[in-house]
Amino acid sequence: MDELIYLDNAATSWPKPDRVYKFMIDFYRGCGVNPGRSGFDKAIEAGNILEDLRKRLTRFFGGDESAPQRLCFGYNATDALNLIIQGLLSSGDHVVATNLEHNSVIRPINHLVRDSGVEATFVPFNADGFVEPEAIAAAIRPNTRLVIVNHGSNVLGTVQPVAAIGRVCRDHGVLFAIDASQTAGHIPIDMLAMNIDVLAFTGHKGLMGSTGIGGLYVRPHVDIRHTRAGGTGVRSAYPYHLDEYPYRLEFGTPNMVGIASLWEAQNWIDEQGGVTAIHAHEMELTKKLVDGLGEIEGVTTYCCRSLQNHLSTVTMNVEGFDAADVGIMLDVDFNIATRTGLHCAPLVHEQIGTMKIHGGVRFAIGPFNTEAHIDAAIAAVDEIAVRAHDRMMSSSK
Ligand SMILES: Cc1ncc(COP(=O)(O)O)c(C=O)c1O
Repeated sequence: MDELIYLDNAATSWPKPDRVYKFMIDFYRGCGVNPGRSGFDKAIEAGNILEDLRKRLTRFFGGDESAPQRLCFGYNATDALNLIIQGLLSSGDHVVATNLEHNSVIRPINHLVRDSGVEATFVPFNADGFVEPEAIAAAIRPNTRLVIVNHGSNVLGTVQPVAAIGRVCRDHGVLFAIDASQTAGHIPIDMLAMNIDVLAFTGHKGLMGSTGIGGLYVRPHVDIRHTRAGGTGVRSAYPYHLDEYPYRLEFGTPNMVGIASLWEAQNWIDEQGGVTAIHAHEMELTKKLVDGLGEIEGVTTYCCRSLQNHLSTVTMNVEGFDAADVGIMLDVDFNIATRTGLHCAPLVHEQIGTMKIHGGVRFAIGPFNTEAHIDAAIAAVDEIAVRAHDRMMSSSK
């Protein structure tokens, strides 16, 4: 069978750049030791890449360059979001989130609401898939401690107006956090200019690193309580987890292979001309896909009327089939990998009314996709739409 056409880059980007694979192997073979500030040469070398990456990602996200220690590494966005939500909210606090959130925000919040006396409001998005800053302002209460927003929807692909939402939060004296899982590495982010106080990222999507690495940046005026404790490699006689950053939010031996992957992926992103150049390529293909799908009878796409402030993620359905059936046909009959179902974002599907057909079929274009991949995807959906039509006709006889 022909080569797999991979259009599931919103789940994880694949393949990674060749230089990332190579660097990971070389780094782990040559320097795969526990990083340490006062150790032997290799431990210092491993520590240097970790500290240099903190500086580099602080700059990449527009954090405070004088405070790179506030870039803390963890396993992924879910890990970082749990640290943020559990470490900022206490009984009696109110949190504002949106219907665009991933379960890695919804579930930690719901646990606090059920078990710890926290209150929450989930703000709906408008018909085009955007959360309006005014709607966030209207949801803020005197006890609101945190507003948390999914920067780029992993279902609809819409990019939220975080600078305007950040202004609302600053005017109300409320902390503002974003889940940058889908935007990091795809569009520029400037925490300072956008009034973002805390940012969670994952390494294996647009940042083009491996799985198992992610983290958060916490601006210097914010303090997140540590909700775990353990080894930090420094001040071992102290009986509690350290309060200073990055140790405050890092626990145990870091994923150094993941750190190496992110380091080399940053070099690759620079080599491509930066995230803006990568995004331009992805959006050219996205336009081709949306235009092609728009020509097919029985196909519905969601929130793609304009591709302004949009990622290369497009969700659609074919009338007459459940989303999962379409995904299976794309996979088995056409060797095209997509993601079907609710995409860990049930509130999005509730709001767009796709729960009853079990969600949607998501195409997520990455930097290694080509026009030929998109042509093949459009032709495959066209054929599936014909099958759906024939089936509906024969069952109505
Ligand atoms: C918007 C969003 N938030 C959070 C996550 C969780 O990312 P990870 O699985 O890397 O923790 C994802 C991943 O699909 C996502 O799309």
